[in-house]
Amino acid sequence: GDAVEPKAFKPEFKDYQAVYNEIAKLLQEHDEYDDGSYGPVLVRLAWHASGTYDKETGTGGSNGATMRFAPESQHGANAGLINARNFLEPVKAKFPWISYSDLWILGGVCSIQEMMGPKIPYRPGRLDRDMTSCTPDGRLPDASQGARHVRDIFYRMGFNDQEIVALAGAHALGRCHTQNSGFDGPWTFSPTVLTNDYYKLLLGSKWQWRKWDGPKQYEDKETKSLMMLPADIAFIEDKEFKKTVEKYAADNDLFFKDFSAVIVKLFELGVPFTDKTETYVFKNLDE
Ligand code: HEM
Repeated sequence: GDAVEPKAFKPEFKDYQAVYNEIAKLLQEHDEYDDGSYGPVLVRLAWHASGTYDKETGTGGSNGATMRFAPESQHGANAGLINARNFLEPVKAKFPWISYSDLWILGGVCSIQEMMGPKIPYRPGRLDRDMTSCTPDGRLPDASQGARHVRDIFYRMGFNDQEIVALAGAHALGRCHTQNSGFDGPWTFSPTVLTNDYYKLLLGSKWQWRKWDGPKQYEDKETKSLMMLPADIAFIEDKEFKKTVEKYAADNDLFFKDFSAVIVKLFELGVPFTDKTETYVFKNLDE
């Protein structure tokens, strides 16, 4: 079996870096999934756990991990996230002291860093809640809608226009699956590496409606192998959003800096930290 570190005997010592390392190791081992990584779907789990937050009522958010339960697990927007939750089960079994809610966010943090993204400072302290804290359906964005809907959804969480565009850069990662959302295909040519390619492609490619049997989505005219959702195209149709798209397309360092800040804000919505809460900046597996 694994060597037991002396500190493991101290029950009060919570080694979050060890949890990070375990997730990173499993990401490397399970390269059979999708485009070669569970990273994108883990990022999506952390976002959908957090993105139910409502600043007026303080309900929803990552503090609770209520997506473990129906009805939230059955919400259309959460289709396919069972794969991410199941991926993390062996990690929960190995480190039972971590809450599901902290673990799901740590899964997102680890995935972003391991997919060559920026450092994402992490604070623990989320407590799991029961199914009575499940949020109503409809709090997550509807990909078939445009700028007004996107603003409604993200203003409800407390984000501004610049922050919304910075968050959307996560669509450099992963893909749409017909069995989950009905949509199909990746946004970028390297869906397991975080870059500012999402913004570059939004501006640099010609986007046309895909002619197919599925829901309305765009394809790039040149290769027809990339996609954009109607809600993605809203970021270049809307003048205010487009200004920020142009900034991030031109400057990957700026995107990384702003993305890190805004995803920390997303992941911490509604989480009750104390004066004693520590911030962790994790080492990557290869550091
Ligand atoms: C995937 C919609 C914002 C991260 C998806 C999918 C849809 C979608 C329809 C495909 C799911 C599937 O079929 O498996 C939207 C809309 C957004 C939004 C309408 C807001 C306008 C975000 C944000 C993040 C994010 C803020 C993270 C910060 C991801 C990731 C995937 C994904 C990483 C890929 C998942 C995978 O490969 O399994 N999104 N999303 N999205 N989304 Fe978003």
